[in-house]
Amino acid sequence: MRRKTAFQITGIVSLSLLTGVLSQAIGTSQQSTEPANKPKEAIQRFPVHTRSPGPSPAIETGFTTGSGEPVTADCSTCHATRTNAVPVRSAAELESFHLGLNFEHGQLVCASCHDPGNNEELRLADGTHTPWANAMQLCAQCHGPQARDYENGSHGGMTGYWDTTLGPRTRNSCVQCHDPHSPAFPQMYPAPPPRDRHISIRSQNASDHNERHSE
Ligand code: HEC
Ligand code: HEC
Ligand code: HEC
Ligand code: HEC
Repeated sequence: MRRKTAFQITGIVSLSLLTGVLSQAIGTSQQSTEPANKPKEAIQRFPVHTRSPGPSPAIETGFTTGSGEPVTADCSTCHATRTNAVPVRSAAELESFHLGLNFEHGQLVCASCHDPGNNEELRLADGTHTPWANAMQLCAQCHGPQARDYENGSHGGMTGYWDTTLGPRTRNSCVQCHDPHSPAFPQMYPAPPPRDRHISIRSQNASDHNERHSE
């Protein structure tokens, strides 16, 4: 028990996963030496919910219905009847539609992720298709380290409970944080530290100290 607490304090999920496995293994091996009538405590875990990016992105046509709702068109509305130009390497090559698309993702082309023959789903590297909602699998095939870190909880953040025996957890999928077409985040300065009366006293002391040195 004590050893389990020590591991939890480290807060490293891979370790706690490992301990989970270990303590389960230990639990089962101990159980065999314990009296058979002692009930085994089942560990209750709350669900981990990953937000879905949505069923399928639709294109805003710029028209509105009589009640003011925007009119959208599915990809297939246009792409069922037109053959894609392959490969389209940059947004600048698009002249008649999807103008202004912000596309900056390594040396990828549209067809790295969209099937020229089927825009209703995403295309994986092996040529098979996957639904929009499964975009993480698409990202993971080229960004293994981040996908692994995401699985371990050290990339991609979460809300709710770290310890899922206490409550549920909610996570974003890759495309809720990263624009798949332009995924890099701009560099930014770290936020200023919180204003805290103890911190300000300390930095006050530090600046007094520095002043005395410069005198
Ligand atoms: C209103 C019609 C329309 C809709 C709706 C539409 N597209 Fe397109 N799309 C076009 C046209 C036209 C082009 C060619 C643009 C060019 O080359 O100048 C194009 C180009 C593309 C290309 C580049 C490769 C190519 O075909 O030349 C991709 C990828 C693409 N569309 C994906 C999508 C996806 C995904 C959706 C749905 C989310 C979608 N499109 C919805 C009309 C449409
Ligand atoms: C790295 C993979 C990837 C590449 C490369 C890529 N797309 Fe996409 N695209 C996606 C994903 C994933 C979505 C769905 C986004 C979502 O669900 O929020 C999407 C959505 C779209 C949409 C509908 C939503 C929107 O943003 O307008 C269009 C249109 C589109 N892509 C066109 C293109 C065109 C044109 C190119 C090439 C210039 C391209 N894509 C390159 C992954 C990609
Ligand atoms: C076919 C392979 C491929 C797929 C699929 C793919 N990427 Fe990328 N990604 C790349 C390459 C190549 C780069 C450019 C790396 C570089 O410039 O160092 C890149 C760059 C990035 C970067 C910027 C990295 C940096 O250090 O600036 C992010 C973030 C990213 N991708 C996220 C995603 C997400 C999210 C998805 C899923 C929607 C995705 N990628 C799908 C190949 C891919
Ligand atoms: C909660 C938001 C969030 C989610 C979800 C998320 N990322 Fe990121 N990701 C970030 C931020 C923020 C950065 C920028 C870190 C920096 O610039 O130091 C980043 C950076 C990256 C980079 C650039 C290299 C690096 O590690 O700094 C790649 C590649 C990447 N993410 C891929 C992914 C993939 C693949 C997924 C899904 C498995 C994903 N991300 C999920 C927020 C997220």
